[in-house]
This record gives sequence, structure tokens and C-alpha cells, in this order.
Amino acid sequence: MATVMATGNADMEIAAVELVNPRPDANVVMIGCGPGVGVVAAARRAPNGSVIGLDPSAVMVERTRTRCRRARLEHLTRVERAAAESLPLTDRSQDAVVSVNNIQLWSDRSVGLDECVRVLAPGGVVVVLLHTWAIPNALPNDEWVTQLSADLSARDVRVEPPQTRRFRSGPAMVLLGRMAE
Ligand SMILES: C[S@@+](CC[C@H](N)C(=O)[O-])C[C@H]1O[C@@H](n2cnc3c(N)ncnc32)[C@H](O)[C@@H]1O
Repeated sequence: MATVMATGNADMEIAAVELVNPRPDANVVMIGCGPGVGVVAAARRAPNGSVIGLDPSAVMVERTRTRCRRARLEHLTRVERAAAESLPLTDRSQDAVVSVNNIQLWSDRSVGLDECVRVLAPGGVVVVLLHTWAIPNALPNDEWVTQLSADLSARDVRVEPPQTRRFRSGPAMVLLGRMAE
């Protein structure tokens, strides 16, 4: 599964990092990092910063650590077992919070969003990508995306109009928001 994600979703992870457009000294956290493609991509863009990869799966954490080691980026990266609902990060410590293909798996989205906002520095960005076919079907897709935007806006995040972009593995919702300064 990790290998399938590393190839099938690589373009989404890389697109998310491009949307963040990190400064060279940025601190970036990749939530639900899976096999770590985005962690490596972010670390290459932030050679004077830090990139934290978090995933509750021990297998994914090990895959990400191996990917970082092979890319010789261990010194810029930290990879830990953790879920979105309890981020092992201090308040306002991150310039960007990224979630690709995992927000639908969070056990409590409200708590997870609270955590994202807690760790974001003023002016920091949150980027969420999710395959449209993975959007929970409790609501029609557009309503689910509108609700997510509203949930972020209610937390002082200025959300850009969500987009749907086509990736190798299919269409995905792309959402970018910025914390108030
Ligand atoms: C479909 S994979 C996506 C991995 C990678 N971001 C990608 O797009 O290839 C979902 C990942 O989310 C992780 N995950 C599951 N529950 C999570 C949670 N509550 N918080 C953060 N990540 C979670 C899983 O362990 C898994 O690695």
C-alpha cells in the first residue's frame, strides 16, 4: 500500500508543497504523510527550515524515515507517529500545515482543525488535498467542501475558493487557507 501511495499520489503531495511555496527557512508539517514523498519535497524547498512528517502508522513512519535518509535529508526532517487530532508541536510553530488524502480519516475533524490552527504561525498556510472520490458521502461533495471551508473560516483562516484539479490518480479537491496575521 505504501508503495502504491508513493507512486500513485506523488503528484498530489508535490502539488501541495508547491502550493505552500515554502521559504527556504520555513517550518512545514505534513500530516498523514504516508510514505513521505511530500516530506522530501518540502525539505528540498526549505533547506534552512524544518519539515515534520506525522502519521499514526508505524509502517508509514518507517517508510518516510527511509525516504528521508536515502534523500540525505535526515538533518532537515523529523518523522513521528501522531494523528491530526493530537499534533506533537508547539503553538504557532509552523509556517505551513499540509494534509493530503487523510482528512477523511481523522476521527474528529473539528479537533484536528483546532490542532492545525493551534500550531500555525500568524500568516501561515494550511493546504488540504483530497481525492473527490474519497470525500465522505454523508453530504454531496460540494456541500462537504463548503462546510470544510466554513469550518476553517470560523477559525480565523482566510480560505481561497476551493478548486478541483486532476491528478494522475483522479480528480481532487484543493483547498488553501491563510491564518490571520
Ligand atoms: C491514503 S493515505 C495518504 C498518504 C499520503 N498523504 C498520500 O497522499 O499518499 C492516508 C494516510 O493517513 C494516515 N492517517 C490515518 N488516520 C489519520 C489521522 N487521524 N491523522 C493523520 N493521519 C492519519 C494513514 O496512516 C495513511 O498513511
